[in-house]
Amino acid sequence: MSINFSEEAENEVITSALNLSEDKGEGSLRPQTINEYIGQQKAKDNLYVFINAAKMRGESLDHVLLHGPPGLGKTTLAAVIANEMGVNMRITSGPAIEKPGDLVAMLTNLNEGDILFVDEIHRLNRAYEEILYPAMEDYAIDIILGKGPSANSIHLDLPHFTLIGATTRSGQLTAPLRDRFGVTLRLELYSDEELKQIVERSAKILDVEIEPEGALEIASRSRGTPRIANRLLRRVRDFAQVRSNGVITREVADKALLSLEVDKLGLDALDRRMLRSIIEFYNGGPVGLETLAATINEEAVTLEDVYEPYLLQRGFLTRTPRGRCVTRKAYEHLGIEYMGQQQMDI
Ligand code: ADE
Repeated sequence: MSINFSEEAENEVITSALNLSEDKGEGSLRPQTINEYIGQQKAKDNLYVFINAAKMRGESLDHVLLHGPPGLGKTTLAAVIANEMGVNMRITSGPAIEKPGDLVAMLTNLNEGDILFVDEIHRLNRAYEEILYPAMEDYAIDIILGKGPSANSIHLDLPHFTLIGATTRSGQLTAPLRDRFGVTLRLELYSDEELKQIVERSAKILDVEIEPEGALEIASRSRGTPRIANRLLRRVRDFAQVRSNGVITREVADKALLSLEVDKLGLDALDRRMLRSIIEFYNGGPVGLETLAATINEEAVTLEDVYEPYLLQRGFLTRTPRGRCVTRKAYEHLGIEYMGQQQMDI
């Protein structure tokens, strides 16, 4: 299987859910089978049925769209599907497809049953989407050669392949593309217990000794995201080796995470800055996402895709039609006095 993790994050923060350069060794921690894959029970139950049905009929799997916040294992799940189907997976991403020929080359190099994984499919150039429509529906493409009256079109049959698209923003897909996926699965943030199991599994693979309380401490401060849990595990392991006897206990994990500026509930400096800004500049909200992004000098999409899901899930933030508001819980967590629901001066 050819897997190429080329996505680079601009700002490398330890609690970023984005794929950072230090995660290059993540591959060894990835589960290979559906049984090894922890969490996402609903998605797994459905996939189990679809994979087995396709295998029984001797057909390729229907096209699958995976959506949800970054770092939850969309690429990992696609690789698990390929493994369970016993086929090869080719990996590309929306922004990596720079010209129509890139997509045509990927499609024509597939073998029967293969999986084509397109990460960040919402960033695929709209004009090239039209190549995918007949490819997905009829396993064929029409290539136009030349221009004007002498232009010729050739029809190419493709093998029966499966397109797995991954996106953090399914709302940005065009309707015709979204409609061509037979299966749509939403990945959810992981529970602390699921992340604890992932941390314990990864510790075993990395040959690190960890106590259950140490694993839970890392898990509960990983923003519901396995990529962050595995990254924090590696950093806490460093602290355990240098500052202790190598065993990750709850105390070692707590001290290490505080040194890394990850607080008790897994919030990092940017989370706190975001909540604090809403309180200090906008009386707790509501404030529009773009305005907030400009205030803290971040991109609105980063706030929306990377930071908000966890803050919403943990009840620090709410979304209202007029903008974002912080909750009483956020005031309490930041140690700021809560003066009741405030109204913005308009
Ligand atoms: N590593 C990263 N994600 C995982 C998952 N869902 N299950 C097991 N190990 C993982």
